[in-house]
Amino acid sequence: MQHQTVYISGSGAIGGLWARHLLNANYPVTFISKQLDNVENSIELKFNNLINNEVDQIQTQSIAQLSPEQTKKIKILLVCVKSYQLSTALNSIKHAIDSNSQVILFQNGMGNLEIAKQLIPEAKLFLASNTHGANRTSDFCVTYAGAGKTLVGPATNSQSTAGISSFIDALNNALPPVIWTQNIQDHLWEKLAVNAVINTLTARYQCPNGDLIKNPDLLLKLKQLVLELEQLYGQLGKQTIADNIQTNVSNIASLTAKNKSSMLQDRMNQRPMELDAISGYVLTQAKTAGISMPLLTELHDYLSNIHH
Ligand code: PAF
Repeated sequence: MQHQTVYISGSGAIGGLWARHLLNANYPVTFISKQLDNVENSIELKFNNLINNEVDQIQTQSIAQLSPEQTKKIKILLVCVKSYQLSTALNSIKHAIDSNSQVILFQNGMGNLEIAKQLIPEAKLFLASNTHGANRTSDFCVTYAGAGKTLVGPATNSQSTAGISSFIDALNNALPPVIWTQNIQDHLWEKLAVNAVINTLTARYQCPNGDLIKNPDLLLKLKQLVLELEQLYGQLGKQTIADNIQTNVSNIASLTAKNKSSMLQDRMNQRPMELDAISGYVLTQAKTAGISMPLLTELHDYLSNIHH
């Protein structure tokens, strides 16, 4: 049976990871790229899988790509661009989206759904929370560095989920586990707290995730940030999530000890950082709730003032 084409916006680490695994599972994939890399309308990506002991088995794969203008009717779309690229990406393809389009947003942080609702209001919107570790270097090499999972759920409780299960099955065949959840918003709030601690600290001090629990000075900062977040989440009525922040942060820092966070990778590659969607979003919530977050404010201000 011929499967639907899965369109992917964003050929970075996460977009590349999905493209590779969907193609391997025989699902047709097309990247929607702002700049086409060659006239044949395909992009050559290299893949380095550090999972399953496939160390140094770099393989090259040619993946179809279209410009936004060439893209006609999208049934299935994975949006894997960074949060700060989301509005530009959706604006450029909104002509190809209608009420039959199923769109999954993979961005870190919060505020992404609001952008998508505004730009592609007719689409069926889903949110994903990803914990696979991956990175892409400027030489088109995607490295799969740490096995994780993908949680997916509807953007709102009232949204129709008709037809989504075969899409979820496809994703789960390609890169398991993909787990369906009605409570995706809670998972995203949980991940926001982890990102607000790990990403801002590692980007500020330019260290791998594990240093945050190994280095005593950094551990003190980690604990202070966790306290600030616990207070905010408690105030926002998210006490269960608040109670788990310390455990989640410690577990993820130790499980991904050697990895560089996505924000640190952005800083090192002189790209913008996802500050608006992570620390900026948290600080806006804190301001409204009347909570002061001195350390997060300091880190956010420091990182906001880095100009490459
Ligand atoms: O953004 C990231 O890098 C990841 O979500 C994580 C696991 C928090 C840090 O590497």
